[in-house]
Amino acid sequence: MAAKIVIVGSFNTDLTTYMERMPRPGETVYGREFVIGPGGKGSNQAVAAARLGADVTFIGRVGQDVFGEMGLKIWQDEGINTDFIVRDPNHATGVAPIFVEDSGENVIVVALGANQAIQKADLDAAAEIIAQADVLVTQLEINYDMVAYALKLGKEKGLRTILNPAPAGTLPPDVVALADYITPNETELEVLSKMPGGEFTAQAQSLLTTDDQTVMVTMGSKGVQYVRKNDSGLIPSFKVDVVDTTGAGDAFNAGMAVALAEGLELRDALAFGNATAALACTRPGTARAMPHRDEVDALLAKSK
Ligand code: RIB
Repeated sequence: MAAKIVIVGSFNTDLTTYMERMPRPGETVYGREFVIGPGGKGSNQAVAAARLGADVTFIGRVGQDVFGEMGLKIWQDEGINTDFIVRDPNHATGVAPIFVEDSGENVIVVALGANQAIQKADLDAAAEIIAQADVLVTQLEINYDMVAYALKLGKEKGLRTILNPAPAGTLPPDVVALADYITPNETELEVLSKMPGGEFTAQAQSLLTTDDQTVMVTMGSKGVQYVRKNDSGLIPSFKVDVVDTTGAGDAFNAGMAVALAEGLELRDALAFGNATAALACTRPGTARAMPHRDEVDALLAKSK
């Protein structure tokens, strides 16, 4: 049976410009190509999880505008349950101008719009579906009260909960304690732990309340470092030809969530997440760059 994943999070329309290099402050540079496509950390994770074979419900808000239609289209195309998507009458769909340079690195500005208007009632409406799921995933592109509420609902219903604290932000310790898995990159770890410039094992340890929690620090081409109260280890990344790293973190979270929901043990789940992220970096875009299950399985098989 397919793994059941609930994702509470954002949809943004990504407005991506590809260029040789980023402009410096005050400088104008020529862009090479401009692409409009579906994005948003929550939605990217939902698309990736669906392509990996999971049964995915996405809970979020978009505006009553053309960008909102773009979200509905990709979710319907990917077979994602949209029963709990609200078309917000008062806010525009989130947008994210993104700049990607030839090295594959990116910078992003997110105007959250309707993502910030998600309410408890949106989640309560999905209580039955949440109760039947294996894993719940959320991120920080919705209002933080709803991040806390989503994690609380997930724990109450007995799910495994994943907090992807991106983009960087701080949350009260009692909210972080509701996450079984916490998946920051190095910058996000500094901000969440409020230990800037520190050593990342200590930063990660400071987030752990129970023996059951795991912090997974995503470090790009260096791999993923996991830290538990009494254990830690590095799972190396896969070497690929990088075209665009935007959405790599989302791919990792989705892959890892699906693998855990399917019963893989921690290190294998992390390798599965790494393979999903590596493949997402080999093509431009975010949601549209997410790999399918056969590609991930093939990459993992090649590495054995
Ligand atoms: O993680 C990548 C995503 O961050 C983009 O799709 C953009 O919308 C921002 O949310």
